[in-house]
Amino acid sequence: MEKFDWKNLPFGYYKTNYNVRSCWKDGKWSKLEVTDSEYINLHMAATCLHYGQECFEGLKAYRGKDGKVRLFRWQENYKRMARTADYILMQCPPEELFREAIFTAIKQNAAYIPPYGTGATLYIRPLLIGSGPQVGVKPSQEYLFIVFVTPVWPYFKEGFKPVDVWICREYDRAAPLGTGNIKVGGNYAASLIPADIAHKNGFAAALYLDPREKKYIDECGPANFIAIKNNTYITPKSNSILPSITNKSLMTLAEEIGMKVEVRPVPIEELETFEEVGMVGTAAVLSPIKRIVDTNKIYTYGKNNEPGKKCTELYNKLRAIQYGDIEDKHNWVLVL
Ligand code: PLP
Ligand code: COI
Repeated sequence: MEKFDWKNLPFGYYKTNYNVRSCWKDGKWSKLEVTDSEYINLHMAATCLHYGQECFEGLKAYRGKDGKVRLFRWQENYKRMARTADYILMQCPPEELFREAIFTAIKQNAAYIPPYGTGATLYIRPLLIGSGPQVGVKPSQEYLFIVFVTPVWPYFKEGFKPVDVWICREYDRAAPLGTGNIKVGGNYAASLIPADIAHKNGFAAALYLDPREKKYIDECGPANFIAIKNNTYITPKSNSILPSITNKSLMTLAEEIGMKVEVRPVPIEELETFEEVGMVGTAAVLSPIKRIVDTNKIYTYGKNNEPGKKCTELYNKLRAIQYGDIEDKHNWVLVL
């Protein structure tokens, strides 16, 4: 394996040694297969290709100062995958198969787990697809579950540096009663144009509004939205956003450091009143926002391009737990 420039990795695909797979056919899951092939042999009428019967997850493994590898809250990712699979009528692998698949994928690719202190991590991508043929709009009779891994830098190349985001009023990523709260590929397809517009105009991400009334903040393309004021951690309550495991963890940590936590609709006008704002997610970690640009208004946060105090405290605490630097009081971390 060539030497990695761990500190300059993108958030992208990098070929590793192996991935793992299991198929659901005739009512049962096959024994986990470990393969070095990056390709799958798929029926051209597979439901994932025609009717979007597919979902995925994203979690990370962290190498600590002690050299040990830690996995963060993987059961939460399993629960979300199971919920997503139910919603689009897919077979979900049992929890034990999910566990075996992610553990095996990490162990088989141990050389790709970035060293402590580089800022890079091993991103784990479980993928579930309807692989059987249908031409009528119906669920597949066969499913393929794959887990691959790739070493990554945080999603926003700035890392823990404030970025600009753009309020997207021309497009929605999800419908009010649609699939925004589950992790299906279609949500990300809907976000490609807004993300492209955002990037071409120098923004890190598009920030979506509630799709029904366009009065409230929903979330960013790849991460939840958080705000801080008066020692309170505020995050939107909405049916069209993905419940984030990072956000849930940060809420617990916010309470632990004596902050109040509010999960409620966040009207756009309230942006004016926030002391700090950010985007949170597995890939994004906690990415502070310095400017939110709306059609006729710009909201500005922080001074000297520095992250705010509370965001910094929460970010440091979360990362210290994930890397094993401080005690894991909540039992979130599994040492492999
Ligand atoms: N929102 C969206 C749309 C996402 O894709 C993600 C990433 O999975 C998140 C939020 C953050 O969720 P989590 O913290 O569970 O990674
Ligand atoms: C994650 O944070 O794990 C995500 O899945 C976000 C994005 C890369 C789709």
